[in-house]
Amino acid sequence: MMQSTRQNRISKPVAANVPASWFGSSTAALLMAFEQQGYSRVDAISAACAQKYGVPEYFAMHRQEREKSNWAATFLEICQEFSVDEQGNRVLVVGVNDGMEVEHFRHCRVVGIDPCREALRLAQSSFPQHEFHVAIAEALPIASASVDRYIALRVVNCSCVDVPAAIAELKRVLKPGGYFVFSIATGFYQGDRFVRGTFKDGCIEPEGATLVLQKLVNTLSAAEMHSVMIENNPTETFVVGRNSAQLEISHDTSK
Ligand SMILES: C[S@@+](CC[C@H](N)C(=O)[O-])C[C@H]1O[C@@H](n2cnc3c(N)ncnc32)[C@H](O)[C@@H]1O
Repeated sequence: MMQSTRQNRISKPVAANVPASWFGSSTAALLMAFEQQGYSRVDAISAACAQKYGVPEYFAMHRQEREKSNWAATFLEICQEFSVDEQGNRVLVVGVNDGMEVEHFRHCRVVGIDPCREALRLAQSSFPQHEFHVAIAEALPIASASVDRYIALRVVNCSCVDVPAAIAELKRVLKPGGYFVFSIATGFYQGDRFVRGTFKDGCIEPEGATLVLQKLVNTLSAAEMHSVMIENNPTETFVVGRNSAQLEISHDTSK
């Protein structure tokens, strides 16, 4: 009993390498503030993400954190197993930020979306051969059944993402039989030490990633987007699945 109370405790962050503004303002609080000023939902998400994910301190911290963790090795194994970077594949990268996952693709055509215009400028200048759009996961500027693979790394952790609405859009745009890959960050680096937990309202929630994972998997299966692999990497959990509902429908109609 005592142990579970301690595990679920929300504690104040003490990370030295993270800018204070990061803790002071959760995306949920920023979003609410912009909505109260009369911004539309999409504009409010863009403005909140610009403050949180579009500043030089974030780009520097984000790159350092990603370099320390071994996410790329797991991600590349998954991409290979589920034929992501195949010639001719149209791959949608949601919450692409400055394009760190895009640098691993050599053969496919990438469409990257993010509400943060500043981050997309960096992505577009690093990868002029690909397409990037300011947009949100909940309202994709993408035709139905037009993408072969859908990637969203460390995006559903973000408190301004409406997970059921994002899954409805995933289901709409992914081709029958197409695979999706989500990941959920399970912690962050404090210097060289990995601290388990996610940020909520400027504090660290030790079991935050487990809650996000449960919500994601439940929402996916309610939408008949069944998970085929859940891979626990030390710094993030990957969820891979397939658009099988549409696959069955398309088989039936072709008979
Ligand atoms: C933690 S970063 C992850 C960036 C990159 N995918 C990675 O793994 O390094 C989260 C990104 O999600 C974006 N984001 C936030 N809300 C979003 C939404 N509703 N739809 C799409 N992207 C969103 C943010 O702007 C930010 O670039």
